[in-house]
Amino acid sequence: MSDDRLIVALDVPNILDGMKVAENIGDTVSFYKIGLGMLTGGGFALANELKQEFGKKIFLDMKFFDIGATVQKAVAGIAAHDLDFLTVHGDPYVVEAAVAGRGDSNLKILAVTILTSLDRNDMDRAMIIDGDTQTLVVERARRALEAGADGVICSPQEAAMIRALPVAAGKLIVTPGVRPANADKGDQKRIATPAQAISDGADHIVVGRPIWQAANPKEAAQVVLDDMARAPQINSTFAK
Ligand code: C5P
Repeated sequence: MSDDRLIVALDVPNILDGMKVAENIGDTVSFYKIGLGMLTGGGFALANELKQEFGKKIFLDMKFFDIGATVQKAVAGIAAHDLDFLTVHGDPYVVEAAVAGRGDSNLKILAVTILTSLDRNDMDRAMIIDGDTQTLVVERARRALEAGADGVICSPQEAAMIRALPVAAGKLIVTPGVRPANADKGDQKRIATPAQAISDGADHIVVGRPIWQAANPKEAAQVVLDDMARAPQINSTFAK
């Protein structure tokens, strides 16, 4: 089994493109993230196919946010499909509903703290309480974990602070915004290398465009894996 600390974000338009990338990558990667962008392009079918036919782990990035009863029902529907990770927004009532919805399935509920695309001006417009982003992120992470989340999504810059929370012991930290040295940053601003993210306390890193947009996705994934392997493995909490 390849190193499942690397999760490849398959942000391609449809199931055909997703299968093409996954087939090129083959055994090099064992964990894929499928998000809302591919929902109408067959994302859910792709998730099930990669899981059932190819034995891959699946992170469904749905970022649910609704009334508790609806979140619970939606999560229960997904939990019936034997997938691995699911995101919801980190509001404690949403997390509690999601945890109730997944029941005794193995689906891990990961909480989104504050979207990294939001700056203070966006937060003011959304009436999010005053304070610097990092403080708010760490506090939202703490509350989501206390509400029962299995882990949080955060930027690599926040990983060490969240890892230091007592409530984060044994919980998952998953970080997008990861770039191997020399890779194109794209629109990611607060980035770290795979090895940095892991040594700051991430259990899993999410890398998208540097892999699926590469001429050879398999080689690009290997570059990330090689970098990650250079980090001392000090904080892994996910039972393999
Ligand atoms: O292509 P790239 O490596 O930037 O993709 C990162 C993935 O992680 C994308 O699917 C993006 O939507 C997701 N993500 C992120 N930042 C967050 C949450 C999710 O980049 N805060």
